[in-house]
Amino acid sequence: MEDSKLQELFDSLTLKEKIYQMVQLSGDFFANTEFVTGPLEKVGLSEEVFENLGSVYNIFGGAKAMKDLQKKYLEHSKHKIPLLFLGDVIYGYTTSFPITLAYGCTWDPEMIENMARIIAKEASVSGIQGTFGPAADLVREPRWGRCLESNGEDPYLNSRYTAAMVKGLQGDLGEDTIASCVKHFAAYGAPIAGREYNSVDMSERTLREVYLPPYKAAVDAGCLMVMPSFNSINGVPSTGNKWLLKDLLRDEWGFEGVTVTDYSGIKELVDHGYAKDNRHAAQLALEATVDIDMRTNCYANELIPLIEEGKVSEDLVNDACWRILVLKNKLGLFEDPYRSADELKEESICNTPEHVDFALKVAEKSIVLLKNDQKVLPLQKEQQIALIGPYADNPTLNGFWSPFARKDIPALKKTLEDKLGAANVHYAFGCPVLGDHSIYNGFPVPKTPYDAIATAEELEKYGEEAVQTAQKSDVIVLALGEHHLTSGEGASKTDISLPKHQIELLKKLKKTGKPIVLVMFNGRPLVLGEEELGCDAIVEAWFPGTAGAAALANILSGETNPSAKLSMTFPRNMGQIPIYYNHLNTGRPAKTSTHSGRFLSRYIDSSNDPMFPFGYGLSYTTFEYSNLTLSSKVLEGTGAITASIEITNTGAVDGEEVIQLYIHDLVGSVVRPVKELKGFQRVAVKANETVKAEFQITEEMLRFYTSDMSYQSEAGDFEVLIGPSSSEFMTERFELIQ
Ligand code: IFM
Repeated sequence: MEDSKLQELFDSLTLKEKIYQMVQLSGDFFANTEFVTGPLEKVGLSEEVFENLGSVYNIFGGAKAMKDLQKKYLEHSKHKIPLLFLGDVIYGYTTSFPITLAYGCTWDPEMIENMARIIAKEASVSGIQGTFGPAADLVREPRWGRCLESNGEDPYLNSRYTAAMVKGLQGDLGEDTIASCVKHFAAYGAPIAGREYNSVDMSERTLREVYLPPYKAAVDAGCLMVMPSFNSINGVPSTGNKWLLKDLLRDEWGFEGVTVTDYSGIKELVDHGYAKDNRHAAQLALEATVDIDMRTNCYANELIPLIEEGKVSEDLVNDACWRILVLKNKLGLFEDPYRSADELKEESICNTPEHVDFALKVAEKSIVLLKNDQKVLPLQKEQQIALIGPYADNPTLNGFWSPFARKDIPALKKTLEDKLGAANVHYAFGCPVLGDHSIYNGFPVPKTPYDAIATAEELEKYGEEAVQTAQKSDVIVLALGEHHLTSGEGASKTDISLPKHQIELLKKLKKTGKPIVLVMFNGRPLVLGEEELGCDAIVEAWFPGTAGAAALANILSGETNPSAKLSMTFPRNMGQIPIYYNHLNTGRPAKTSTHSGRFLSRYIDSSNDPMFPFGYGLSYTTFEYSNLTLSSKVLEGTGAITASIEITNTGAVDGEEVIQLYIHDLVGSVVRPVKELKGFQRVAVKANETVKAEFQITEEMLRFYTSDMSYQSEAGDFEVLIGPSSSEFMTERFELIQ
C-alpha cells in the first residue's frame, strides 16, 4: 500500500482502534480458530478488543488455522486491517536445527544465514509472518536455563550469527521470508546468579561493550522488531526503560521498527515494584515506546483513561500504531493478508529431504569433540558397539524452545544401526534421564519411558542389563544428558552436573574395562566430574535437532570429521562461574604476577583455568600452526596490517579447522580484556596439506569505550594471538600510531 493510502487508513482509525492494534494475544485464545472468550475473560479483555486486535502469536495448526482465523477476523473488521501472525521459530519450524548454543559452535555464519532462509520458508508457508528471534542474549552464566537460546559468550561471534539470522529470515521481505524480532533486549543472559528473570546489575561499559553488540548487529542488519527483556538493568525493568528503548535503541541506534513485550512484560512492571498498578505500568511502557502489549490488558484497558487524565500524550499511541501499520505494510499484508500461507506448499516445503539434509550439515558442524584419547573415535567397522543410556534411543533431541518442530525424529539407536549395521549395535536402556525427580521444584512429572522416574530396584536391573551388554562389546557409546525440559526458559540450576544416577551407571560401566565414548545431550555447558572426564572420548551433541542423531552417527563412524568449536566456556567446577575467556586482568594475575604464594588472584582449591575453553574443539586429524607474520609492526591511522599464518593438517584424514584471531590491547585508559575475538576463518585442509590464512587488522577493530566512554582506539602496543582456541595460540605484536 502506498504511504498516502496507509496514512488515510491510519487517519480513519479511532483512538481505541489504534490502541487495539497495539494488543497481541496468543493462539490459545482461538480454539479451533473460532472467536472464543474463555481465556479472554481471564485476561480481562472485551470482545471489542478481540475484534480489533492487532496481532496473534503462536497459533498452531499451520496455514489452514491461520487462514481461517484471518478470514473470520477480516469479515468482522471495519477497517480490514489484517492480523499480524507471529511465532517462535528461533532454530527451526518443523525441521528443527540444533539449539542456538549448538549452532553457535559452527563458527559458520554463512551457513546459519542459509539455515534461517529455510526456517523462514517453512514458517511463512505455514502462516507465520514474523518470529521472535534471533535471540541475541550473550551469556556467561551456564546456570541460566536459556543458554540454549544463546550463541554463547562472545560479542563478536554472537553479532555475526545474529546479523546472519536477520538476513536469512527477512531476506528481501519477499514471499518466503518472515520479519525478525531481536530479543531479549537487553542483557537478559546476565541475571544475577544465573537465576531466570533475575535482575541485571552491570556497568554501562560492560553493557555496551559486551552485551549490546549482538542486538545492535541485528538492528544494523535491518531487524524489524525488538523485544524488551523481562529483567531489570541497574534497577529499571526493560519493558519500562525509556533510556534503553527510546534514548539508546531508537535515538542513538536509529531503530524505527516495532517493539513487542515479552509476554506479560508490562504487567510485570508492577511485580518488579516499578509501577504501582497496571495503569502506571501501561504509562511507563508507552513512554518507553513499547508498541505491542503481549497478552495483557494493560494497553487495551488503561491507555484511554491515561490519555483522558492527561497523563500520557496521544502522540505516543499514534507513533506506536503507525509503526505497527508500517510493519504490516512492509510485509505486504494489505495486498495479501494471508501472505505466503499455503496448505499445499506447506506439504511440499516443510521438512523436505533437502531441509533435513541441511539440518544434518548444521548438526555435524555443531557437535563438539571434547576428548578422544587413544583415538577411540571414530568407531571401527566390525567393532561391537554397546549403545547404552537414556539418550541412546530417545527422540527428544529438539531442545526446549521448538514448539512447531516435528517430534517423530530418529534417535541415535536407529541412525547408528543404519550406519554400522544392526548386528554390530547392542542396545541397553541403562537408566531414565531423570533420577531423583524431587530435586526439581515443581517440575512436571514426565510420562515417556525414557524419562520416567525409576525406583532403586529398577535402576539396579537396568544397570545390570547395561553391564551385560557392555561385556559382550568392544566399545561403549554412552548417551547421557539433561532432561530436555530441565534446560530452557525457567530452568535455571544451581548444579549443572549430569544427574547422579546417570553417573552411577557410568561407574558401573567403567568397571567392565571397556573403552567408553560419552555422548552428551544438554542445553548448557556442564560441569563434568572425574567419572565423565575419565571417559576415553567425550562428544558434546547438545540438543541437535531433527537430523541430530544422523549427524552423530556420521561423526561417531568417522564419515564426518568433527570441526565444531565451543562458543561458551565449560567450567571446571560450579565455584568458577561466571567464567569466560575475555576477562580483564587483575593486579595480581595468577600466572604472571611476581607476587608469590598466597597473594594471587586465584582459587586455592581449583585452577583458574576452565575445563574446556571458548573456541576449543577437536578433530579426527591434527593441525599444526606455524609462521605467524605481520605485514608491518606498525598500524597507522586508517590503514591495515595483514596477519598471516600457516596451518598444516598433520594427521591422516582431511579436516576443517576454525582459525581464531584474538587481540590484546596491552595498555588502555581502562583495563582491557586479556584477549578479544576479532576474526575467524573456517578452512578445509586436506591430510598433509598446508594452507595459509590471512586476516586484516584495522584500527576499527581496536576501538572500545575509553575512560570518558567515547568509543575509539588508543595508540599503543597490541598483541595478536592466532590459534585453534582461546587458550592456544601464536603471538606477535604491533603498535598503533594515530
Ligand atoms: O518469544 C517468547 C519469549 O522468548 C519468551 N516468552 C514468550 C515469548 C512468546 O512466545
